[in-house]
Amino acid sequence: MKLSLFSESETKDVINLFKNVFSESEGEAEGEAISEFVSSLIATTQAKDLVGCLAKDNEITVGCIFFSRFTVPSGQVAFILSPVAVATDVQGAGIGQKLIQYGLDHLKSLHVNLAFTYGDPSYYSKVGFEQINESTVRAPFPLSQPIGWLAQSLDGNKMQAMTGSTRCVAALCDPSLW
Ligand SMILES: CC(C)(COP(=O)(O)OP(=O)(O)OC[C@H]1O[C@@H](n2cnc3c(N)ncnc32)[C@H](O)[C@@H]1OP(=O)(O)O)[C@@H](O)C(=O)NCCC(=O)NCCS
Repeated sequence: MKLSLFSESETKDVINLFKNVFSESEGEAEGEAISEFVSSLIATTQAKDLVGCLAKDNEITVGCIFFSRFTVPSGQVAFILSPVAVATDVQGAGIGQKLIQYGLDHLKSLHVNLAFTYGDPSYYSKVGFEQINESTVRAPFPLSQPIGWLAQSLDGNKMQAMTGSTRCVAALCDPSLW
């Protein structure tokens, strides 16, 4: 398996991966919704604000994740991980964790201070994310599952509570995603 950074020429493959994985795990409507979200994320986010990572097996894309810029009131540099997909037939083999770790290492090399995500704490804790409270950092929209609000420091400094609002990229500005 080969890990690499996403480039725009891989857009079609990536959208198909998300569509298939989410259709199979959560139904066709969710597959459609995620493919629209990923298309919008790629089309509307400036290159400096988007980091995608791919896992390929014999040139076939079997995993993909995106981090997009997340603006926090402390002024630290932050990105948020969303979404994540690993092809159904190769799930549970460690690909998701390797891909996320690869992405986090890349963000560290870019001197990013903080990484956030919103998802299952039991999964994302395997790659260093910890549950945070909105009194530490506010989410940009009301959270339907506050236990899924997660973050980690990438620069070795303990994360500090901050006051003020946060901002995500346009594609994530959809209350139904939160
Ligand atoms: C969630 C997902 C990305 C995990 O990737 P993966 O390559 O299958 O996972 P890994 O092999 O790295 O990790 C496996 C471990 O995570 C756990 N795990 C896998 N999917 C999980 C999930 N949805 N929730 C909680 N834990 C999960 C497994 O139980 C396993 O735990 P163990 O190591 O203690 O046995 C993948 O299963 C997937 O694409 N699922 C459908 C889409 C999805 O739910 N995406 C996440 C939301 S954006």
